[in-house]
Amino acid sequence: MSKDSTAGSGKLWGGRFSRTTAASVEAFTASIDYDSRLYKYDILGSKAHAAMLQRQGMLSREELDAIVAGLNAIEGEIERGEFRFRSELEDVHMNIEKALVEKIGAAGAKLHSARSRNDQIALDFKMYLRDQCDIFADLLDDIRKAFVVLARRYMGDVMPGYTHMQRAQPVLISHHMLAYYEMFGRDRQRVLDCRKRINFSPLGCAALAGSGLPIDRESVALELGFAGVTANSMDTSGDRDFAIEFVSCCAMIQNHLSRLSEELVLWSTQEFSFVEIDDAFCTGSSIMPQKKNPDIPELIRGKSGRVIGSLMSLLTLMKGLPLTYNRDLQEDKEPVFDAVDTVTASLAIMTELLGNLRFATDVMRRATRTGFMTATDLADYLVLKNVPFREAHAIVGGAVAYCIDKGCELEELSLKELQRFSPAIDDDVYPILSVEGSVHSRLSTGGTGRDRVEQAIQNAEQQLGMV
Ligand code: ARG
Repeated sequence: MSKDSTAGSGKLWGGRFSRTTAASVEAFTASIDYDSRLYKYDILGSKAHAAMLQRQGMLSREELDAIVAGLNAIEGEIERGEFRFRSELEDVHMNIEKALVEKIGAAGAKLHSARSRNDQIALDFKMYLRDQCDIFADLLDDIRKAFVVLARRYMGDVMPGYTHMQRAQPVLISHHMLAYYEMFGRDRQRVLDCRKRINFSPLGCAALAGSGLPIDRESVALELGFAGVTANSMDTSGDRDFAIEFVSCCAMIQNHLSRLSEELVLWSTQEFSFVEIDDAFCTGSSIMPQKKNPDIPELIRGKSGRVIGSLMSLLTLMKGLPLTYNRDLQEDKEPVFDAVDTVTASLAIMTELLGNLRFATDVMRRATRTGFMTATDLADYLVLKNVPFREAHAIVGGAVAYCIDKGCELEELSLKELQRFSPAIDDDVYPILSVEGSVHSRLSTGGTGRDRVEQAIQNAEQQLGMV
């Protein structure tokens, strides 16, 4: 069969084809609409690869210079919006390489020696995610600062602490804020830990089996800031563990944001009225003129679905894949990009919202007045008077039932009434029945007592360089 003149229609891989690709196939297989976002990393990787080819005697100095100049020019065109990405060239790698060949000719055609798009995409993706880890670490520190600012501002103010969404024990608002400081601190550690495993260069694994050309993977890895090179070319060309791990970090962050959002939605109800979310961060209703809705936290809570979905996509994508590269892997990009965009936007706007959040401290304090929130303190008081805890628990339970009947709180009972439940009770009991007495007695490590929380705020301020 004679080759038709448009064979491969100018594709970089067109050589073995005698007919052009169907337009529907080009449209179906192209990834350029989304992977063009990796252009900066693709160019960085290509420059380092070319420099290595030159060191190893596979490119002349002039050829290297032409490649670097050509790639720099292409980068400029992309940044200025002058570059036309073509979907018939499938992806970011071939769009850039084709443009390079068109610009500088023969030298450009030498760039792909000892390289496959399989190790190239892994390289681009890893470099992109490495940067995202650093960006997330900074965004997480920003939101942590917002919690520390709130903790400092409301230091000393009390609120009900809940278990099962029932009033349980009084706590400091600051303690509640620092809980989120801790959660997002773990997220930060996780992201930076994930970065360590991302940070091994795949370049030089080529298609799957490594290269027969005299390459030096280690020097390229060093130049690109990697901690080293990956150990097995077959593992490397089909590995997306790093992407799954990264998106799992994203899912955890978004889940934490979602839990916070749930509290903000709840607290801003008329029923709770614990917080006032600034007007600038709420929206109204098109039909009910009185409404002020907490849309930001609601949307963040809602968006946790798509980030968790991205994680499920990636896990499902990988579960049946044989070694090594399979085109399925191209489907890894969109869930990752979507997770990055969602988490980035959510962290940023939540940080802004927290900076404009006001607590209704009077309402919160009043809420600690009812619900027998110091009952555990009374039981602890009896323990210190040598009453076994189980017995103390039953005694206080009786006193609470009595109060419910009488329609009063524990601290409103007279000493005589209290002593009916246990002769061990003395008039030194009243300070411990007060909300402040309860809160500030909790001086165990990690507890809500004033001194502990003050110390925790100071540690956080120091850690984040806020003092
Ligand atoms: N666009 C491809 C991807 O994202 C790049 C690698 C393609 N490799 C190949 N042999 N077709 O996975």
